[in-house]
Amino acid sequence: MAIVSMWKRCCLTQDRDLICHIKTGFVLLVTLTLTLFVISCIYVVLFNPLKHPHIWFNPVNQTQSYNVLTEGSSGKKFVWNFLTTPQIFQTTTAQKNHISVYHHVAHPRNYHFILDEPNKCKQDPFLVLMVPVAPHQREARNAIRSTWGNESSVQGKAVLTLFLVGLTGGAEAQQQLEEESRQHRDLLQSNFVDSYFNLTIKTMVIMDWLATRCSQATFSMKVDSDMYINLENLMSLLLSPNTPRQNYITGYLMWNQNVIRNKKSKYYVSEELYPEPKYPTYVLGVGYVLSNDLPQKIVEASKDMKPFNIEDAYVGTCLKRLGIKPSRSPDPSQFRTYMKDSKGHDLSKVIITIARSPKQIIEFWQSVKRHK
Ligand SMILES: *[C@@H]1O[C@H](CO)[C@@H](O)[C@H](O)[C@H]1NC(C)=O
Ligand SMILES: *[C@@H]1O[C@H](CO)[C@@H](O)[C@H](O)[C@H]1NC(C)=O
Ligand SMILES: *[C@@H]1O[C@H](CO)[C@@H](O)[C@H](O)[C@H]1NC(C)=O
Repeated sequence: MAIVSMWKRCCLTQDRDLICHIKTGFVLLVTLTLTLFVISCIYVVLFNPLKHPHIWFNPVNQTQSYNVLTEGSSGKKFVWNFLTTPQIFQTTTAQKNHISVYHHVAHPRNYHFILDEPNKCKQDPFLVLMVPVAPHQREARNAIRSTWGNESSVQGKAVLTLFLVGLTGGAEAQQQLEEESRQHRDLLQSNFVDSYFNLTIKTMVIMDWLATRCSQATFSMKVDSDMYINLENLMSLLLSPNTPRQNYITGYLMWNQNVIRNKKSKYYVSEELYPEPKYPTYVLGVGYVLSNDLPQKIVEASKDMKPFNIEDAYVGTCLKRLGIKPSRSPDPSQFRTYMKDSKGHDLSKVIITIARSPKQIIEFWQSVKRHK
């Protein structure tokens, strides 16, 4: 090469003067600059990188990654995904970037309401009871409508009960549901497939409804359709001066719960969906009460929390991300699951307990009325 021969000519011959060394250095510098310029030109022409790479943090497995979208000379788009563990892989289309994680399946903004009651909260309820239920469970809805769901005022505070269902199986079932909605004006229906596996979607749609249609309520409650609620006791808890009205959630607390890895269990969650072995403290999904600032915060946090099918534990992971710990209620025994001996006396002390059938909700209700 020219530089080498110049160096030989100058320096291997006897005339090793200073000028000669400077000349060689200068030519080297120019060559290097030119090479760098050519390389950067090739890079821009071939890959045309976007100005702002999309940096993305995955809170589930604590890795940070960033995407660089490039457009090849053929016009084909590539997403380069760089992980902090220096693992580089390439996906073939732009669709596969992390946008899909931001708008994951449980994110409520993916769905819309087919049946809605947007004006229900105009009267500023103090407490809104939200009941997820399957479309066909009309008997359960009617049991609630004739018991705790029929209370509009407790200790002078306005209370409201609404049911949330997903899609029905067919046109006839849909017609019946719409008829029921006209009759009672207490049904909300969203367009996701209603199934046990989709309960997380259902819960997030409930949170979304509370956040967008009912932010003026002070407290809300997610409560299953097989629950008895003692509204007097619940109201006493909520009206207690010790009960915060922000960042507050209580119920039957679940501590230190292992994630179920047994594939036969209905609570099975894969490591891919939830890598950690334990859940953060969460509130059992049968019934939890929350200050009504939380639904909006939970929806917001859920944007970048990978969903999994255990709805209450999922709400727990969203709360953890928000730095909010579920509160122990002053008398934790008031939040019950099944009661061995549900006599009127015990029922008059609880806030919630599971009923074995819609009929039993009515029995529990009447039993407490009698013992008053
Ligand atoms: C973390 O999650 C992202 C997105 O789900 C995945 O691409 C990545 O491989 C995961 N990293 C590890 C170390 O598991
Ligand atoms: C709800 O309560 C009212 C009285 O406050 C009663 O007239 C009505 O029948 C009740 N509704 C149901 C569905 O039981
Ligand atoms: C859950 O709902 C989504 C959206 O409607 C649907 O695509 C999916 O098939 C449902 N999954 C199950 C198991 O029902």
